[in-house]
Order: sequence, then structure tokens, then C-alpha cells
Amino acid sequence: MSGQAGSLRSAEWYAGNDRNAYIHRAWMRRGLPAHAFDGRPHIAIANTASDLTPCNAHLDEVAESVKQGVYEAGGIPLNLPVVSLGETLVRPTAMLWRNMAAMAIEEMLRANPIDGVVLLGGCDKTIPALLMGAASVDLPAVVIPGGPMLTGTFRGQPLGCGTDVWRLSEEVRAGTLSQDDFIRSESSMIRSRGHCNTMGTASTMGLVAEALGMVIPGVAGTPAPDSRLLESSHQTGRLAVEMVQAGRTPSSVLGRGSFLNAIVALAAIGGSTNAVVHLLAIAGRLGVDLRQDDFDSTGADVPLLVDLQPAGRFLMEDFHRAGGLLAVLREVQDLLDPDALTVTGEPLVGYLADAQIWDREVIRVRAEPLQPKAGIAVLYGNLAPDGAVIKPAAASEHLLQHRGRAMVFDSIEDLHARIDDPDLDVDADSVLVLRGCGPKGYPGMPEVANMPLPTKLLEQGVRDMVRICDGRMSGTAYGTVVLHVTPEAAAGGPLARLRTGDVVVLDVPNRVLAVDVDDDVLAAREPDAATADAFAAPARGWERLYVQHVTGADTGADLDFLQGSSGQQVSRESH
Ligand code: FES
Ligand code: MG
Repeated sequence: MSGQAGSLRSAEWYAGNDRNAYIHRAWMRRGLPAHAFDGRPHIAIANTASDLTPCNAHLDEVAESVKQGVYEAGGIPLNLPVVSLGETLVRPTAMLWRNMAAMAIEEMLRANPIDGVVLLGGCDKTIPALLMGAASVDLPAVVIPGGPMLTGTFRGQPLGCGTDVWRLSEEVRAGTLSQDDFIRSESSMIRSRGHCNTMGTASTMGLVAEALGMVIPGVAGTPAPDSRLLESSHQTGRLAVEMVQAGRTPSSVLGRGSFLNAIVALAAIGGSTNAVVHLLAIAGRLGVDLRQDDFDSTGADVPLLVDLQPAGRFLMEDFHRAGGLLAVLREVQDLLDPDALTVTGEPLVGYLADAQIWDREVIRVRAEPLQPKAGIAVLYGNLAPDGAVIKPAAASEHLLQHRGRAMVFDSIEDLHARIDDPDLDVDADSVLVLRGCGPKGYPGMPEVANMPLPTKLLEQGVRDMVRICDGRMSGTAYGTVVLHVTPEAAAGGPLARLRTGDVVVLDVPNRVLAVDVDDDVLAAREPDAATADAFAAPARGWERLYVQHVTGADTGADLDFLQGSSGQQVSRESH
């Protein structure tokens, strides 16, 4: 692994005896011996550890295990802290910063003397941002998902992070749980290091990254405190060195088949709808032809095999114990592209022969699915000319074909101000509509689509209503919620011209989302001043850049100028 000075990218900085090579080496000699610069691979560890991203706070320990593996394989590991995004804290929504994180990661991977990268993520946006950035640089890259936290319990019952916060807070509003007990449950919610333990976006994106082929098969879903995560991290460090030697870049691993495999996995695990925008954005960086419709055509008929919250009962610790992703994929192996590769150089399907289900309650066999059709449905109509998505598996059966009068809210503030008004003109058949929450409108496309139900209806026992929004929904939420309506209201979509009282038609079996108003009448309407006033108009900074350049949810809500790859070359020296 030595004596090849000049052959690797890092050697463009370190090889030779001129003044610049001297500078590059000298400043790095803080414990690194001379042979660190003899041409061996330099592996960055793109590390989203941050005290303000509590789900990723343990990744520094993971990085130490990666380092050992890199050293053992003859490489040089280099910790590279990158922009981190904590879902629960960052305002106005972590999604506003996903593209910023991806851009910063891309630029720092390209700008530095590295030959490959290990990507450490966890909390919702972190793995998508890492994959987007790495794809646009196209250096050998491998993901280690930081893993879910262990199951916390409250009064003997398991608590699912996220999902049970929604459930318990609705119980308080419905008067079936006291405020004191609600607060008491708080200290039980987060039992350990790791990300949310439901099948929310973080769990989904870790598993989806593995289905894409970007994780050592079998690693995703390993709980964060599990010793096997550190063992896998050591192995991943070794693999990163091997990947550099093999020239195994993201563009050589990820093809259309990889994304279709990810869609199959997403459906079978009952994963988060957020994976739609993230996968579209990652594919956009690679130039892979992936469309929102592929989620419906490839995923809609895939059976739901995993009984996890929010759609089901169990949590990620149970999922891992029951056999994890490979056990699920074995059940749907016939739906997978057999040629799609993984970071190891072997096809994904090559890892399925030994996979077993150890608990058939948590992971179902194909013949006994939780639901026969689990994937995401893409709806079209005069309310969503470019599409909208719904996860039927998380919806109420009786609402999947529904007509109802719209109650329209122009912003999340408008909704909060009026939703509990006893005079609000809504009943159980009403359709709640929240607009101005798309990528441009908010900005950042917040997870507000699972609007709280009016208290007066909760008190009547109503537990679900049709809700429609151009924003996203938390992966830990549930309900009959139509999301990602495109074009969004702030981009001139017809949602901006919907009026309270219009009759909205939702027909999921026939893939329709429409308003019962003639198209020419709808087109001739002007949005109200209050509607337009609610759209964001940032004056400077990232938000301004974002609003000017963000694309619709149907193409991943990336910035238009970040789609594609700039490759790994940097042409100019810094001195
Ligand atoms: Fe980080 Fe849920 S808040 S994964
Ligand atoms: Mg989330």
C-alpha cells in the first residue's frame, strides 16, 4: 500500500519535493509520520456529530472505530466535521438546510486532499445531505448509519420517539391523559444515544442507504449503543481503503436499479414519505433518471412486511433483533434488480441467501403481509398537476375515497390561530388544507402536513381527517395526509386558488386529487392577498438563494444549480 506516490488524488497535494508539497505535508505533521505521505489513501470521515444534533452526538466514537479500520488497512483517516442538522431543534425546518449541508459537504470533500470518504449520519437530513454531496464529488464513499436508540418505556409500555409524542399530545387535547403524566413521559422518551427508534425518516434513510448499496449490507438498523455498530465501523474503515484501490465511486455503485431497489425496500419497511424527496435529490446529483412516478409504479404494490411504528407496533430495536433489512429484502428478492451493486463490489442480492426472519411478528413473511400494498401513491389532478404523494398504509381506509368541503389555512400560524375555534366551520367530512408550506413558500418545506385536528372534532371521537398540504409530514406521523402537492402554492400552483368551501375529491385507488371547480374558473381566480402575504420573501443570505433556486418536491427540492456532479478535480493551487 505504499510506493505509489502520484497515483492517488491526495498525492497531488503531498507527493514531490517542491514548496507546495512541503507546505501540505508540514502542516499535517502533527503526529503523522513521513510514510503517511508515501501515496497511501487518505480517507475523510465526514462526521455530522454535534451536541446540537443529539441523534448524532455519538458519532465521534463511531469515527474512532472507523479510524482503526482505515489504519489497519494501510490508509490515513482524517476526521472532517461537516454541517450537521438536528431535526428537533433547527428552525425553521432542518429541510431548509439540507441543500446547504450537501453543498458544504460537496465543496469540502472536493477541496481537501482525500481519496475516499466514510459518511457518518443519523438524524433525518444528515444521510441525505451526505449522499447528495458525495454523489456530486464522486470519490469512493460509504455510509455508516449512526443507528436508532434503544426502546424507552413509560408505565411499562414502549415509547416510540416522535410517534408517541403526537399520540400522547393528542390524548391530552382529547382529555384522556393528564398534563402531568404527559410531562412525566418526557424523560422516558429518549432512552439512549441514537436517532428516533420508529420507522421515521432517520431509520428509513439508513435502511434506504443500505438498499441503495451505499452501506455494508446488514449494518443499517444496528442500534446506536450496540457494540456491533463499532465493529461494523471498523470494517467500514477497512472497506473505504479497499474502495479507493478499486476506484469504486458512487456513480459506479448507484444506477437506476439501485434506486428502484430502494423504492422496493421503502415500501416493504413502510418507510417515511420524506424518502421520496431525498431519493429524487440524490438521483438528481448522479444524473440517474428517477421520477416521482417510479415510487408508485415500482413501490405501490409491494407488500408491507414490517410492523413498526408509526404504521404498526414495534420499534427499531425489535426490527434489528428480528433480522433487519436483509431479512425483509429476502422476502421480496424477486422484485429487486439482481445486478445492483453495493459498496463491497458485490450485488445486494448476493447478501440475501443467509438472511433470516427471527421474529415473524416484527418482520412478516411475504405470504402474510401486514398490508398487501404498502408503497407510496402519486396523485394527480387539477389541484396537483405535477403530483402529490400519500402513504396509504398510514392512512384510514374509509378516507381513501372521499369528498369533502375544504377548510383552507394560509400558514401554520393561521392554522394554529383558528383550529381550536369552536365556531370553525368543519365537521368530520371536512378536508383540512394548509398551503404556503412548500420549499419556496415557507421556506424549506416543513413537516406540518399532519395538521392537528380541531379539538371540537377530537372531543367527538374523530381521530383522522383528510389533510392536504404542499409541505412534508414527519416520518413518525400518520393519518390520511396528502403531501408534497406540486407545484406548491408559492410557485403558482392551483392550491393557491383553492377556497374554503370548495369540494375536494380524494380518490387514492384512482390516483386523483382534485377540486370540484371547473379548470377555467380555477385558473381565473387570483390568490387572496392573505395567501400571497404568507409566502416567504427573504431579503438575503441562504434563504434568499434557496427561495430563488429550489425546485419542486417532485424533483427532490434540490437547488437547480446543484443538480448533477462537478466531479473531484480541483484545478488550482492555493498558494
Ligand atoms: Fe433525530 Fe428523529 S429527531 S432522528
Ligand atoms: Mg422527522
